[in-house]
Amino acid sequence: MQHYFSMFFHLSFFFFVKVFAADNTRFDETYEITWGNDRVLSSSQGTQIQLSMDASSGSGFRSKLSYGTGFFRLRIKLPDKDSAGVVTAYYLTSEGMKHDELDFEFLGNKEGKAVTLQTNVFAGGVGNREQRVVLWFDPTAAFHDYQILWNQHQIVFYVDDIPIRVFKNKKDIGVGYPSQAMKIEASLWDGDSWATDGGRAKTNWSSAPFKAHFQGFHMSGCSKSDHNSNNNNIQECFSPKYWWNSEKYWTLDSKQKGQLGNVQKKYMNYDYCSDRHRYPVPPPECLHQ
Ligand SMILES: *[C@@H]1O[C@H](CO)[C@@H](O)[C@H](O)[C@H]1NC(C)=O
Repeated sequence: MQHYFSMFFHLSFFFFVKVFAADNTRFDETYEITWGNDRVLSSSQGTQIQLSMDASSGSGFRSKLSYGTGFFRLRIKLPDKDSAGVVTAYYLTSEGMKHDELDFEFLGNKEGKAVTLQTNVFAGGVGNREQRVVLWFDPTAAFHDYQILWNQHQIVFYVDDIPIRVFKNKKDIGVGYPSQAMKIEASLWDGDSWATDGGRAKTNWSSAPFKAHFQGFHMSGCSKSDHNSNNNNIQECFSPKYWWNSEKYWTLDSKQKGQLGNVQKKYMNYDYCSDRHRYPVPPPECLHQ
């Protein structure tokens, strides 16, 4: 009996240390501020960041390094109260023309109303692949996990470990797929021309400053060293030595497929694949899921 207790103790201790170590990454180890300097506030020994936005500026940060594959995660608590028009964005993006981009965009809302999360995928400068889901919890009340898996087989967006969107690599039928090194960015900005209710709900500046909080700066990605950053060849990042490239991450398992189906059925309120007004002929990636 004692043996089991001791084993349990060791396992839980190991788990605790692992999680604790991951959460303990300081912001400035992996990220840097990009704009709105004086609107970025660090706390908890640098392991938590607050971005704020007022009438004169928003703010943002990005990863120091570029990545060629990975399983990226941030914990985010969105601006509370009346956040109509206020966009909190968490995304991967390459630099330069014909860029690749993978987006989470939280479209703020009037106090007490559900928040919509928009995702988008750009490859070689081509986007227009919006999907939107209504979040099934209050994302302003606590931190939640938002993750993006990117390997050579699929891109998956997750909310609290539940897949909400899959974009499969369909290069074989001519669909673009992100292939350039990307940085991870996050920002808080005024999107009231389009974000909430199609731009009808405007930012109420008497509620400013708006504040979003971020945690979890540990990075699981294949980085291009600074020395290599002009070389946009990410081939080396496809190696099976990175766990997110292993077969387990090539497709969703049956439990995850069930979770995705449930989200699509209950919470999705827009899908470019079924917008016949915009796409009389559905884009090819929509027909080969
Ligand atoms: C803006 O916010 C203020 C203060 O919270 C409130 O009194 C006012 O009604 C709001 N205006 C709109 C248009 O919602």
